[in-house]
Amino acid sequence: MNNKRIALLGLGTIGQVVFDELVASTNGAWQLAWVVVKHPERHQTVLLPTGAQLTTDWRRAVEDPTVDVVIELIGGIGVAKEAVTSALLHGKQVITANKDLVATAGTELDRLAELYGGALTYEAAVAGGIPIIRTINEGLAPDRIRQVSGILNGTSNYILTAIDQEGLSFDAALKEAQAKGFAEANPTKDVTGIDAAYKLIILTKLIFHRTLSLAQLAPTGIDHLSPRLFAAAKEWGLKIKLLASTWESRGQLNYQVAPVALNPSHPLYQVDGVTNAIVIDSDLVGTSTYLGPGAGGKATANSVLADLASLSRGEQLTGSSACLRIENGRPLTKQRYL
Ligand code: HSE
Repeated sequence: MNNKRIALLGLGTIGQVVFDELVASTNGAWQLAWVVVKHPERHQTVLLPTGAQLTTDWRRAVEDPTVDVVIELIGGIGVAKEAVTSALLHGKQVITANKDLVATAGTELDRLAELYGGALTYEAAVAGGIPIIRTINEGLAPDRIRQVSGILNGTSNYILTAIDQEGLSFDAALKEAQAKGFAEANPTKDVTGIDAAYKLIILTKLIFHRTLSLAQLAPTGIDHLSPRLFAAAKEWGLKIKLLASTWESRGQLNYQVAPVALNPSHPLYQVDGVTNAIVIDSDLVGTSTYLGPGAGGKATANSVLADLASLSRGEQLTGSSACLRIENGRPLTKQRYL
């Protein structure tokens, strides 16, 4: 069996679950070679499998010639971007959950994967546990998508639900989301719509082949909504949701990330808590809805491991590199599935 050697960068909420699953796995398709952490003193009790090493030096791990796959779970741009860039320059296969990185530098990173015969995949970067990138790249590949619209930030939806159903204040609801591990280290991105915007940028590129910038999207978040607005929405039987949408209309692409008041007949009205949901309108399938946990270590780790499982089956995976076939280490032209 093709035994892939893995460097795991980051041992946070998602990284710890990925680590545990890799250690528990007995399928022999992969082998943990390196675990890279920022604060080794916090991981003194980690039981490394035979042959694996713990380090603070990501270069040692990423540039180790025996490493095939780099799983980047550091988050943010700085070090994560350096490490992913280096991995791709060395022709490695990179799996990441990092929406900030893919949304802001995905095009250049895809290009590196293409040039150096590696791969970049990021099923975990959008909607945590929902395999939405696979659905778009594979399941709906023959179809023509006209609109994508979703609740893409679990923290915001958790806060909106807690305010609506439990009468919590914004701050108390945010604290709960942080305690449960959904919110980003800096929750500003969650509540200002930036996190949802990054995810919409990724989906828009996959579906409509257009790279939007954060400035173009100019997201509006949920951090400025007044208690009176929530009271009025409740009185009218409406729910406020942070929706991220891109749609085609008369040959033009439109996009928006903003809080919207939904009435009970809307397909996303019932989506509460940390759940994410995505509605896709397409020519052949019509309207399809995808629902599941949008954040949290276990659900997101599943998407990381699904990318790894695809790799070990020899597939060229689910990111935009998914359409790239590689023979003898040399990239061929990108192809669509049909
Ligand atoms: N902070 C993000 C959210 C985590 O709440 O949706 C998953 O990307």
